[in-house]
Formats: sequence, structure tokens, C-alpha cells
Amino acid sequence: MTTHYYTATSLDGFIATPEHSLDWLLKQDFDDEGPMAYPGFVADIGALAMGATTYEWVRAHDPVWSYAQPTWVFTHRDLAPPAGADVRFTSGDVREVYADMTAAASGRDLWIVGGGDLAGQFADAGLLDEVWLQYAPVTLGAGSPVLPRELELELVDVARNRAFLCGRYRVIR
Ligand SMILES: NC(=O)c1ccc[n+]([C@@H]2O[C@H](COP(=O)([O-])OP(=O)(O)OC[C@H]3O[C@@H](n4cnc5c(N)ncnc54)[C@H](OP(=O)(O)O)[C@@H]3O)[C@@H](O)[C@H]2O)c1
Repeated sequence: MTTHYYTATSLDGFIATPEHSLDWLLKQDFDDEGPMAYPGFVADIGALAMGATTYEWVRAHDPVWSYAQPTWVFTHRDLAPPAGADVRFTSGDVREVYADMTAAASGRDLWIVGGGDLAGQFADAGLLDEVWLQYAPVTLGAGSPVLPRELELELVDVARNRAFLCGRYRVIR
């Protein structure tokens, strides 16, 4: 079982603009059947974690909740779950949530959806194994940082998927 942080990023290391827009990303060309694409990645995922801002973005932009896997949303607020979805809100320690996610995933991998600091919290606890980055051909200048930590990584795979340079990294420490 592996814990992945899989996300798209600008060339200068931001996953959203300061206004939390992803318009720069959604207009890019990407082949869902191509290398390191989302459908193949998510097929091996048994549980997800995301921060409250990411959750609110998904809720505001997707009319239906598209994740079949149990999902943990980190928040200090009282947020509403999507109807019929297995979404669990938590402000607990990432180690405890990781244990619950592992139990729910039935041997499949875990995905930290974002943001970057939440992925960093898992890395701080030694619980982040891989970082998958899809680099869009834009710079944003400011925004939500992709992974605001000091980490050493090993590049284990690289590919081009249409507009994107895709890198898969193993977290060393
Ligand atoms: N480019 C991509 O593919 C991609 C991928 C993922 C996300 N995104 C975007 O990137 C942006 C990320 O936003 P963000 O940097 O604000 O990160 P975020 O992780 O989505 O949200 C941060 C919030 O999560 C809650 N939180 C985080 N850790 C917590 C903990 N340990 N306990 C309790 N609550 C915790 C806090 O919310 P409360 O105030 O509720 O406590 C915090 O303000 C969003 O706009 C998202 O849509 C882009």
C-alpha cells in the first residue's frame, strides 16, 4: 500500500491561483488514456484525503460527487457532506486518519488530493510515499503552493501527456 500525492501544478509550483481558480488548468489538453493519466491512477486508490478548500472547490464545481472511495476532509468547520457519499470530516491527527484510511482502503493505495500543506502534514509524519506532478505550461506567480516543505525526492518516472510534463517521485525524506 502506497500513499500518493497526485496533482497538477504550474511550472512555478502553484496548484491554484490566489483566488482558488483552476481555469489555467482546465483549459489544458490532456489525454485520459495517456501516460500517468487520472483514470488509471484512481483505479488503484482505496481512500482519499483532502483539505477543506479543495473540498469546497469540488463541491462548487462538480454537480455530483464523483469519488466512489471513502474520503476524509480535514476541516475545523461544520461542513455538509454530499448526499449519499462516504465523506468523513475530521480535524484529527494525520496519523490517526491514516490508520482509518488504511483500514477502509482494503489493501489499495491512498491519495492525498491536496492542498499542498495537507500533503506536507502527511510527509511530516513520514506517511507520504510518492508525489505525482503534472506540470501545466503556465506560470501563475502566486497561489496555493504545491508542497511547502523541504523534502528530498527521487525521480522514478517521467512522461509527456499532451500539454503536460508528468513526473513521478518517491519521497526519500
Ligand atoms: N491543481 C490541482 O490539481 C489541485 C489539486 C488539489 C487542490 N487544488 C486547489 O488548490 C487549492 C488548495 O487550497 P489550500 O492550500 O487552502 O489547501 P486545502 O488543503 O485544500 O485546504 C486548507 C484547509 O483545510 C483545513 N485543514 C488543513 N489541515 C487540517 C488539519 N490538520 N485539521 C483540520 N483542518 C485542516 C483548513 O480548513 P478549515 O478552515 O475548515 O479548518 C485549511 O484552511 C484549492 O483551491 C484547490 O481547489 C488544485
